[in-house]
Amino acid sequence: MGKFKDKVVLVTGGSRGLGKAMSIGFAAEGAIVIISSRKQDNCTALAETIIQQGGRAIGIGANFGKIEDIDSLAEKVMAEYGRLDILINNAGTNIAFGELNSLTPEQFDKMYQINLRGPWYTASRFAPKMAAAGGGAIINIITVGALRPPALNGFYAATKVGLEALTKVMAQEWAADGIRVNAIAPGPYRSDLVNASIDTIPGFEEGMRDSTLLKRIAESEEILNPVFYLASESNTTGITLVADGGYMASA
Ligand SMILES: NC(=O)c1ccc[n+]([C@@H]2O[C@H](COP(=O)([O-])OP(=O)(O)OC[C@H]3O[C@@H](n4cnc5c(N)ncnc54)[C@H](OP(=O)(O)O)[C@@H]3O)[C@@H](O)[C@H]2O)c1
Repeated sequence: MGKFKDKVVLVTGGSRGLGKAMSIGFAAEGAIVIISSRKQDNCTALAETIIQQGGRAIGIGANFGKIEDIDSLAEKVMAEYGRLDILINNAGTNIAFGELNSLTPEQFDKMYQINLRGPWYTASRFAPKMAAAGGGAIINIITVGALRPPALNGFYAATKVGLEALTKVMAQEWAADGIRVNAIAPGPYRSDLVNASIDTIPGFEEGMRDSTLLKRIAESEEILNPVFYLASESNTTGITLVADGGYMASA
């Protein structure tokens, strides 16, 4: 049967890391999963793996930093399925690690386009469709680093705390349409994004691990419990659910 049987779910950045875990996890619970990221081949490959395992999925390439890609994706989803029940705004990037006075306007613009403008535009394109179908659920993936911004991660924290603000506004503006909108603030989870920082920044892995009360970096699959809770719970909107292993750094 499955907790999300026949629900149409879009996972942005669904081909790797936390998004991949969510794509596989929703499909295992009976959902029809739309996997979207920049690299069409990766989306298609994961969709084929899910289908081979008895699930339902499709890969549709899109760069969430580009408005025209999001418009095209929305058209394809509506043409194929006629509705979207659950949107997971997960695609995100961190290409600007360093002191604020060393970062560039180009880095700022790219971070803003992918981490903040993309989720806003994607949610705004699908919300009227969800409303017309009687409602839906939107989950915006931020980071605990947005709630306790650490040094050297200014643009990442700023774009993600902006998304938390938009989450609360979306929840207010779309509640009457039956759309619940919440955010999840993860701490450290193993993924390509985190592994890249582990490989390139000396002490990153130890720092991440030691910054949590649980003294470990979580596996990607551990994001499923909080995501499933917010995707299925019927009376929660406008919150940020923190799933961070007890992150204590730089309050
Ligand atoms: N892992 C953590 O510890 C952690 C902690 C807090 C928050 N987060 C947040 O969780 C989300 C997922 O992170 P992750 O660690 O799983 O990252 P990841 O391993 O780097 O995976 C990122 C995913 O997003 C896609 N993507 C990146 N830029 C994109 C773009 N412009 N348009 C479309 N897709 C794009 C990537 O695929 P393509 O390369 O094919 O585009 C990939 O599927 C992010 O929003 C991140 O900020 C992660």
